[in-house]
Amino acid sequence: MEILSIETSCDETAVALVKEKNSQFFIKDEYISSQIKTHAPFGGVVPNLAARDHLKNLPLLLEKIITKNKINSKNVDLIAVTQGPGLIPALLIGTNAAKALAYAWKKPLVGVHHVVGHIYANFIHANTEYQTPNTKREENIVFPILALIVSGGHTELILMKKHMDFKIVGQTLDDAAGEAFDKAAKILDLGYPGGPIVSAMANKFQKLSKVRPFPFPTIRREIPQRRTFRLPRPMLNSPNFNFSFSGLKTAVLYTVRNHPQILKNKKLTQEICAEFQQAVIDVLIHKTISAAKKFKPKTILLGGGVSANKELRKQLGKAIENTLPHIQYQLPDVKYSLDNAAMIAIAGYFKWKFSKNRKPFYNTWRTLEANANLRLKF
Ligand code: KG4
Ligand code: ZN
Repeated sequence: MEILSIETSCDETAVALVKEKNSQFFIKDEYISSQIKTHAPFGGVVPNLAARDHLKNLPLLLEKIITKNKINSKNVDLIAVTQGPGLIPALLIGTNAAKALAYAWKKPLVGVHHVVGHIYANFIHANTEYQTPNTKREENIVFPILALIVSGGHTELILMKKHMDFKIVGQTLDDAAGEAFDKAAKILDLGYPGGPIVSAMANKFQKLSKVRPFPFPTIRREIPQRRTFRLPRPMLNSPNFNFSFSGLKTAVLYTVRNHPQILKNKKLTQEICAEFQQAVIDVLIHKTISAAKKFKPKTILLGGGVSANKELRKQLGKAIENTLPHIQYQLPDVKYSLDNAAMIAIAGYFKWKFSKNRKPFYNTWRTLEANANLRLKF
């Protein structure tokens, strides 16, 4: 089966052509156009500017992938598009294009939940680093799965007993983890997008000064020899699996207000970035391990833009190896941690595959609606 997919939920315009054979996936071609330059001057994504860029770039990417791969109504089987959640002006561009293609080619069209896409990014074959001895090839990912999805818009712990079966067991009550990275970067005057910049600064500090490599409270910790700042670990001890990151961002703001020299001193900036990154990682890992102890999944799976974070990838793997060594640890290639269209194709394929009635998908060119607040369900 060949799937053409489109992703325009935020600030990446992406298209992909994915071939499925026996539920294994091969990316035949893909193109991504980033909008960093458009949004950088504003320090964050401006929805209407995102839509304008999608409108400009999506037809060009589609033309490229269609002509290069000679895609036509005979050799494509399914069209998948991100339906939501996301920025509505941005989603409208992708969904409308997908509807036009589905109509012209008389093909089924599947609307995909963006977070489900991030989960299924793990089904793209990748030789990624920080695997544990218990990391399996994607076709051997076993259920139940506990997925930690961390991105600019989401921080969720999702339990999956089988394909396309989702139960949110924990989520952020305010900011998402990626949003917190972006806001911390703004406070520290580091630019946009904040996650990769804060992480690069943090890693520089970590290299210089051995900050606690082990965040998980039930494991012995190495306390750093010297620590100028201490940020909170919000909700670390709350009796549930929810998160809260807005207080952490405020703590960065107050720390900078009380120590304005941070902004002028690179070493101090690096240090507060390291403390911030570690605070986010501590909470994410502690909650994930606690949830795994309760729900007893066979696999813990990571996804979303923040899963590109090296320290999170490494430390979560170590925490699983040390505390729950029988559990598989799956993580996407860094390239597919971030928004892309290949993950949307795979999620769309599984939605199609496990639908009891496939007929309605031939009519979605008419009925599909973009939904900024799309709920996570089948
Ligand atoms: O999944 P994604 O590409 O878009 C959304 O669905 O939101 O995630 C983007 C988010 C941004 O907040 C970005 O700052 C964050 O992921 N991010 C990172 C890293 N790379 C991207 N956060 C921490 N460390 C990184 N290396
Ligand atoms: Zn995303």
